[in-house]
Amino acid sequence: MTTTTMQTLAPSTLPGPRRIPFITHAANILRLSTQPLALLEDYHRRFGDFSAMTRFQNGKQGTVLAFGPEFNKTVLGNPALFHSPSLSMLGDSALTRLTSGLVSMNGERHKQQRRLMMPAFHKQAVSTYRDVMVGYTEKMLEGWQVGKQIDLMPEIRQLVLRIVSHTLFGLDDPTQDEQLGNLIYGWTRMSNSAPNVLFPPLRRQLNRLSEQLERELLAVINQKRAAGTPGNDVLSVLIQAHDEDGTRLTDTELIGHLAILFVAGHETTVNALGWTLILLARYPALRMALVEELKSTLGGAAPTTEQAYALPLLDYTIKESMRLLPPVVYTVRVGSEPFELGGYNLAKDSAVLLSHYITHRLPEIYANPDQFQPERWAALDVSPYEYLPFSAGARMCIGATFASLEMRIVLAMLLSRFQVMPLGKVDYQVAGSILQPKGTVPSMIGLPTERREALSFSSGLTQLIH
Ligand code: HEM
Repeated sequence: MTTTTMQTLAPSTLPGPRRIPFITHAANILRLSTQPLALLEDYHRRFGDFSAMTRFQNGKQGTVLAFGPEFNKTVLGNPALFHSPSLSMLGDSALTRLTSGLVSMNGERHKQQRRLMMPAFHKQAVSTYRDVMVGYTEKMLEGWQVGKQIDLMPEIRQLVLRIVSHTLFGLDDPTQDEQLGNLIYGWTRMSNSAPNVLFPPLRRQLNRLSEQLERELLAVINQKRAAGTPGNDVLSVLIQAHDEDGTRLTDTELIGHLAILFVAGHETTVNALGWTLILLARYPALRMALVEELKSTLGGAAPTTEQAYALPLLDYTIKESMRLLPPVVYTVRVGSEPFELGGYNLAKDSAVLLSHYITHRLPEIYANPDQFQPERWAALDVSPYEYLPFSAGARMCIGATFASLEMRIVLAMLLSRFQVMPLGKVDYQVAGSILQPKGTVPSMIGLPTERREALSFSSGLTQLIH
C-alpha cells in the first residue's frame, strides 16, 4: 500500500457530481463506452485532476478518474499495486486461453513472461523485420495509381495485417500468414462485441471460432517446433526463449501471447498511420516539407533502419500526430489491495482510469495544446509520464520499437511517391479505448508534388484540433 503523511479522506467526499445517483452512475459507464472523450474532458474541466466517475458506497469499490503526469507516474509506476484488469473470461475455454496473454497477466507472472518475450522486440530484433515492412508497403504501393480512388482505412488495415502476421508467424507461404491474420482479426471483432460474449446463442458461435483459432495457432506452433531451425519471426524467438533455470513458454502461453500481440499491434498501428496521413492532408505545407526531406535523404529509395530514424521532420510529425490523436485514449488499472490515491482511501478492486488523451493536452506541458505543431518537438523535453502514446512503466507497449519503425517505413515510402487526399469531411469515433477515423475514408491518390487544398474536418474533429 502507498504511504502518505497527509490525512486521507473517505471516498464519499471525492470531487464529482454532488450526488451520484444510480442513473448518473449507469449513464457514466455507458458514456465511457460511447463518448469517452466528451466524458473525460467534461470531468476534467468541472472537477480537475481527480474525481469519482461512479458511486463509492460504504467501503465498496468504484471508479476514479486521475489525470496528469503525477497520477500516471504513481499508478503506472506501481504495477504490483495497480493491476491490469484481466481480459480472461468464461472458465476453461479456448476463448479464455486466447485472452490470457501478457495484457491479462500481473505481478511476478507478468514480469517473467515479459522477460521471455522481450528479445523478440529489442531494437536489434525489430530491425530484422525491416525487409518485411518494406516488401508489403511496396506491394501495396504497386497497386496505387495517380487519380485512382481508394478506401484509405481498409487499405492501411490490410497492409498492417500483412506486416504483423508475417513478422509474428513467418510461415513459408505468406498467404498462410495472412489467412491466420484474417482469422484473428475476425475473432477480435466478434469477441469485442458485448452481445457476442453475453448471449449464449451468440457465445456458442464465438466459442466455435475461438476453438478454430486455437487449433490453427497450435498447428503453427507445432510446425515451427518441428522445423528445428528458428526462422526470423516473433514466434520462433518466443519458442526459443528460456529463463536461466530453463523455463520455456508453454503452448497455452504462446497461444495467449500470439493472440494479444496481433490484437495490440494491429488496430493501434492502423489508426496511428491513418491519422498521420489525414493530418498531412489537412496541412499541405507540412506535407510538402516532408516530401523534400524524404527526397534529399532517401532519393526515392526505401529507408534503411538507420535512415528511418534520421528523418527529423517525419519523427516530429509522427510524435505530434500521436500526441493530439493518440490511438489509445485511456487505460484502466485496478487496486490489487486497498490503496490511497489523491489523498483518498479507496477499496481493493477500485478502478483508476488514466488518460493519455487528457495528459497530451495539458497546457502546462504543451503550449497551444489543441494545435497540430510538429515543430514543437524540436525543442520539447518531456518525461515518459507527460507523453505516453505507448504508455509508460513496466507495462509500456512491448511493440513500441516495432510500431515506430513500421510507421516510419510505411510513411517514408508512401509520401515519397504519392499523396492521399480524403474526399469528404473526416470525422472520428472511439471504439473501446481506440481513437479512429470514422468509416473507410474514401480518398484520391495524387502525386506528392501536386498542391491541393487543405482537407476539411467534421465539426466534431475540428473541436479536437483547432
Ligand atoms: C502505434 C502503435 C501502437 C500503440 C499506439 C500502442 C499503444 C499501447 C499502449 C498505450 C499500451 C498500454 C496499454 C495499457 O497500459 O493498458 C500497449 C501495450 C501493449 N502493446 Fe502496444 N501499441 C502499438 C503497437 C503495438 C505493436 C506493433 C505490438 C506488437 C507487435 C504491441 C503489443 C503490445 C502488448 C503485448 C502490450 C501489453 C504490454 C504489457 O502489458 O506488458 N503494440 N500498447
